[in-house]
Amino acid sequence: MVRVTVTAWAQYRVGRAERVRRIARRLRSRRVAALVRRRVGPTARRADDASGRHRATISGMDDLPELPSHVSENRAFWNGMADDWIAAGEGSWRQEEPTWGTWAVPESELAMLPVDMRGMRAVELGCGTAYVSAWMTRRGAEVTGIDVSERQLATAQRLADEHGVDITLLHGSAEATPFADASFDFAISEYGAAIWCDPHVWIAEAHRILRPGGRLVFLGNHPLAHVCAPWDGGRVAETLVRPYFEMHTLDWTEVPIDPGGVEFCLGHGDWYALFRRVGFVVEDYREPRPAEGAPDNPFPVPAAWARRWPSEQVWKVRKRAAVDVTP
Ligand SMILES: C[S@@+](CC[C@H](N)C(=O)[O-])C[C@H]1O[C@@H](n2cnc3c(N)ncnc32)[C@H](O)[C@@H]1O
Repeated sequence: MVRVTVTAWAQYRVGRAERVRRIARRLRSRRVAALVRRRVGPTARRADDASGRHRATISGMDDLPELPSHVSENRAFWNGMADDWIAAGEGSWRQEEPTWGTWAVPESELAMLPVDMRGMRAVELGCGTAYVSAWMTRRGAEVTGIDVSERQLATAQRLADEHGVDITLLHGSAEATPFADASFDFAISEYGAAIWCDPHVWIAEAHRILRPGGRLVFLGNHPLAHVCAPWDGGRVAETLVRPYFEMHTLDWTEVPIDPGGVEFCLGHGDWYALFRRVGFVVEDYREPRPAEGAPDNPFPVPAAWARRWPSEQVWKVRKRAAVDVTP
């Protein structure tokens, strides 16, 4: 339901949908659906500049397996509007204190990040312009950001260079990363993999790359907002529209109002079942709420709606440290 998400929306423009469709067509015609490696693996090219800092590059495209169609679709979608997100990314990179989601809820309320991340290996799944990665780096973590959009990564790399922040950026899908098992202590996604990847795939992948005891924190749309989202892509209503049970894929590519990409969400029972099956224990759950009097933004959820019902959710889960013997 949130097709596009930034902490500031100044760059949102009306002509976006047509531009995205145009670029998507061009990209598809070059068969770049096969451009992003399912696994970047040892053949990934990740160049270093003169200072030794990593730069994100696009992997070769000859021997790539086909991406799932939703990943190709979302990649084209995000490449098509990456320019519209530059200013918002620049603003977020400048922020001293993190704020989260469409309502810019402060870190002091949500506690998304460990206060001290020194010595931690952290990964941002669907990093976009990588401002969350920057915030984690400033807390002392060694950070890797992965994103399927090379144009978003280009902005991330430029901003990392301008701010003198050392982040490893990789081009690839968060559903199938190149990282070894147990590579990270902490994984996060704010409207990245959290909504653009199939939860049954990316949650299992996040579990694989976290060490036992490692934590995954992610923020995305609340299922209630999806249930109230009109079929035509219009603004969220005070009416139950869609079924709650068996919620999974929300395809906005063909809707008449503000077409977007392919999103995913589950109902609460399904999230819990997934975490349990994969091996995560839920430690915390939050429902960020806009401040009183918060203005509307270009998202389909009116601020007044989000004051009354939750439009966003935060899951904080931990990978089981030992084998679960519960029958
Ligand atoms: C809204 S941005 C998230 C970054 C940032 N927190 C923000 O809110 O701007 C969404 C990002 O998810 C990325 N994305 C979508 N599907 C992905 C996938 N399968 N793997 C990795 N990144 C993906 C997009 O390319 C885009 O850069």
